[in-house]
Amino acid sequence: MTLERLQIANVRNLERVELDLTDRGNLLVGANGSGKTSVLEAVHLLSMGRSFRPGRASGLIRYGASECTVFGVARVDGFQYSIGFTRGRDGAREFRVNGESQRLASEVARLLPVQVLGPRTVDLIQEGPDLRRRFLNWGVFHVKPAFRAEWAAAERSLRSRNRLLREIDGARIADSAEFASWEWQLAQHSARLDAMRRDYLRGFQPVLDRILVDLQFPTTISIEYHPGWTVEVDEAGTMVPGGVGRAVDAAAAPEGETGLSDTPDYRDPDTRGRTVPLDGRLAEALTRLFADCRGADLQRGYTTMGYHRAELRVRADGHPAADYLSRGQMKVLAWAMMVAQGQLLHEVAGRSSIYLADEMGAELDESNIRGICHLLTQANVQCIATGLDGGLARSWPEGSIRTCHIEGGIISPSR
Ligand SMILES: Nc1ncnc2c1ncn2[C@@H]1O[C@H](COP(=O)(O)OP(=O)(O)OP(=O)(O)O)[C@@H](O)[C@H]1O
Ligand SMILES: [Mg+2]
Repeated sequence: MTLERLQIANVRNLERVELDLTDRGNLLVGANGSGKTSVLEAVHLLSMGRSFRPGRASGLIRYGASECTVFGVARVDGFQYSIGFTRGRDGAREFRVNGESQRLASEVARLLPVQVLGPRTVDLIQEGPDLRRRFLNWGVFHVKPAFRAEWAAAERSLRSRNRLLREIDGARIADSAEFASWEWQLAQHSARLDAMRRDYLRGFQPVLDRILVDLQFPTTISIEYHPGWTVEVDEAGTMVPGGVGRAVDAAAAPEGETGLSDTPDYRDPDTRGRTVPLDGRLAEALTRLFADCRGADLQRGYTTMGYHRAELRVRADGHPAADYLSRGQMKVLAWAMMVAQGQLLHEVAGRSSIYLADEMGAELDESNIRGICHLLTQANVQCIATGLDGGLARSWPEGSIRTCHIEGGIISPSR
């Protein structure tokens, strides 16, 4: 998808702004406080209904105004969509697509895949697993149509088991039928989400490898997936729950031995006929694992294993990337991972993402900026970048960037 036109009203210092966008590079140049990041926030609002900046959501609405509105004309698969988002001071939010109110915000997010590249993107490498899990979920959500409904169902079963852990009398825990029922569901959803994530990552790693070669990245990067649990293979070759000893990541079982069947056996009306294959052996092993963990989970007060604990570990030349790489290298790697997602989405689904690249010049050295700009141009993604001066435009391939200027929340016509 491509955003062709943007109208913003009352987002921070942007009282009323109109902007035409090219389907490749768009550079917004202005001094500190001119409103550059606010324009990117407006695009993020249009896709996600929230900002990427920390802080109170009401801080987004221009002082003195009662609501902010963003309106965009987008082209998706050759069709034109008008998408609108309004947020009031009272917290009321509304998405409209082609004039009709949209109940599911995730449907708009699916139409407008948005990624932020900014000063905090490096946290993807440096910080704990949450951001990487969200990164993975973003990719799977956009590439696998069944992910959303599966995720929602998994969340329901997880919440229900956690509620039981808080409420149940400890003496009844071993033979509780209610536990068994939620655990069976949690196991099934965890196994399906796991299958989707693995499948996604199989496509992701080669795209990332290509990008890192293009960027002449100096180390070999591998992304290790941990599903959020450990299972063992017993003497008979059956998967059983376990945490120590011959623990194997289920991914280590050779292809074809995971019991992952291509035959769809699951129909959730929410997925509108789309199906997710189920690894029956894994689901059974997980059901036993959750039952075995009841006592320990009761002590902790929450479910300690499951799809919600999945992790991506990033390694550089075999070492944890956060320990091994320089800060600049981590930034390049984090940006490369984000661009790889957009490229994969384009390759798999033919859909283009929007990259919001804030303060690009401040983040990377000259050769890496040039590398990332070339990459964004080749990756079939749309980019809205910001910079303090127009020099950044020289880093983009000839003819692939349009610059406009912003001052005091007012955008001057493109040059
Ligand atoms: N709710 C609001 N109402 C009006 N103005 C606001 C509001 N919130 C922030 N501002 C102002 O909006 C202006 C634009 O902020 P923004 O972060 O978009 O600037 P910027 O161009 O990205 O600057 P920098 O180069 O420093 O990152 C700032 O001067 C800020 O004080
Ligand atoms: Mg800014």
